[in-house]
Amino acid sequence: MDITKRPRRLRSDGVRPLVSETSLSPSDLIAPIFVDATTDERVPIESMPGHERVPVSEIVSRVQEVGETGVEAVMLFGIPEKKDERGTRAWAEDGVVQRALRKISEETDAYVIADLCFCEFTSHGHCGIVEEGAEEDPHMTVDNDATLELIERTALSQAEAGADMIAPSGMMDGMVATIRDALDREDFTEVPIMSYAVKYESAFYGPFRDAADGAPSFGDRRHYQMDPANRREAIREARLDAEQGADALMVKPALPYLDIVRDVRETTDLPVAAYNVSGEYAMLHAAAEKGWLDLEAVARESLLSIKRAGADLILTYFAESVASELSAGNRT
Ligand code: PBG
Repeated sequence: MDITKRPRRLRSDGVRPLVSETSLSPSDLIAPIFVDATTDERVPIESMPGHERVPVSEIVSRVQEVGETGVEAVMLFGIPEKKDERGTRAWAEDGVVQRALRKISEETDAYVIADLCFCEFTSHGHCGIVEEGAEEDPHMTVDNDATLELIERTALSQAEAGADMIAPSGMMDGMVATIRDALDREDFTEVPIMSYAVKYESAFYGPFRDAADGAPSFGDRRHYQMDPANRREAIREARLDAEQGADALMVKPALPYLDIVRDVRETTDLPVAAYNVSGEYAMLHAAAEKGWLDLEAVARESLLSIKRAGADLILTYFAESVASELSAGNRT
């Protein structure tokens, strides 16, 4: 046999790093943080080992811990002191997210992104205003246009409190244009919008909903989040948000949707983010706990795969652990 083409020649230790096509760096990663107005101390989140809900008094030290690993961007989620039908604590000047944003921007150099949604703030757990009688209606859905007004207020209150970037995650039509308009009108022209443009109605959000106490109390999110069966629709969503002025586009979840990450990458010249969600984190932890997987290795491989699929940025609960390893010289 005469084999002239031998790909294995490029796999020896010396040459492997030279021909490596994808790399992972702490600056690609964004760490999600939960700030909780109902507690005075840190509370571990059972289904997300290593993660906690932190009170506002601890938020600066939490952000600093993340920063020490080399991750300089955080995404903030809030758990309010009380919930109501309209989620009014989402845009309160003294709301939990607003208080945390002020502290972080005054006391740290971290880049802080505010998640903008209502499911953690509404008593019914939906991502906006629900119509009267919704509980009995199997076709119930969120009132899109009424919710846009609340999105506008919340975006402005977050920008006023010092958010460096706004990330709307409620899958309302027109949310990006609404926020861009409001920010520009109030002179926040420099605050970018990272839209959760392509967000699927996924069962992988389970642990997050426990953590943020944001599971819908009735119905589900299928009338506003995307059908996991759809691919062309993802491209349409991505295009619409780009047209409305989004500065970056997110795909969520990440691992079961790598084909979509690639599609969106090829559709837009904007930065693409992918959200490696709570269920993706929890399943690797659970398997590792049983001794079935090597946690560090599968976490790194997961994030590398998400980048290879075309993501520039990754939101992940593995941000700190993977960044620490990378900073310690464990290259991927
Ligand atoms: C909704 C929101 C969700 C997540 C972040 N923001 C999901 C949802 O409940 O619909 C999920 C993140 C995760 O699972 O890590 N505002």
